Amino acid sequence: MYKGIFYTHLISVNLFLLIYLVKTILLLTNKNEGLAKFTKMVKVPEMIISTLFLLSGIYMLTQLPEIKTMMIIKIIIVFASIPLAIIGFKKGNKILALVSFVLIVGAYGLAEMSKKQKSATAQPATVLNGFELYTTNCVKCHGDDGKLGLMGAPDLSASAMDINAKIEIIKNGKNAMASFGNTLNKAQIKAIADFTETLKK
Ligand code: HEC
Repeated sequence: MYKGIFYTHLISVNLFLLIYLVKTILLLTNKNEGLAKFTKMVKVPEMIISTLFLLSGIYMLTQLPEIKTMMIIKIIIVFASIPLAIIGFKKGNKILALVSFVLIVGAYGLAEMSKKQKSATAQPATVLNGFELYTTNCVKCHGDDGKLGLMGAPDLSASAMDINAKIEIIKNGKNAMASFGNTLNKAQIKAIADFTETLKK
């Protein structure tokens, strides 16, 4: 469920930005007729895309284990740039249209950057207790017993993944799962992976 919505969000955001980019270029190059034609052509698809984009975004927000400042900044920027864009295009104001485009692209840049930043809570490199490490780093999505399933996290008590694959996914992350290769050392990752084996029924 989460995965499907995550991809819906990704695709609708990209389509939305693409339409937006074409409109901005047409406006900036004084192709007013082209802009009017394009706007008319994409009117319905744009409505569908922006609805999907907003709904999937809202759903994803409700699934976040914690809302970070970066996320709030992103949302404020996205919501601020929409009226700017509407006014900009309606009045043919190039500066407003450009500013809103830069803002919205910037918001996604920010979101990507914050993803690449060190994830989760750094642990002292000396802690080698799998249970303790699991509690600080994994419980918010997977739950105490591995079954919580937030953000589409699979049930770890039913996982058929072997230990090496687990070490790999903890180190590098996958889709909505964060990577821990920067915050945890090899021995810690191994300790957590071993601990997740004990969650199996
Ligand atoms: C932000 C939420 C989140 C956090 C925090 C998180 N996970 Fe995950 N985890 C996921 C998601 C989502 C998936 C599914 C990834 C995919 O396949 O797309 C996943 C998949 C896994 C899998 C693969 C299970 C399988 O059978 O496919 C393992 C193992 C796992 N996580 C262990 C951990 C461990 C250990 C930690 C802590 C170090 C952790 N996860 C932290 C969300 C999270």
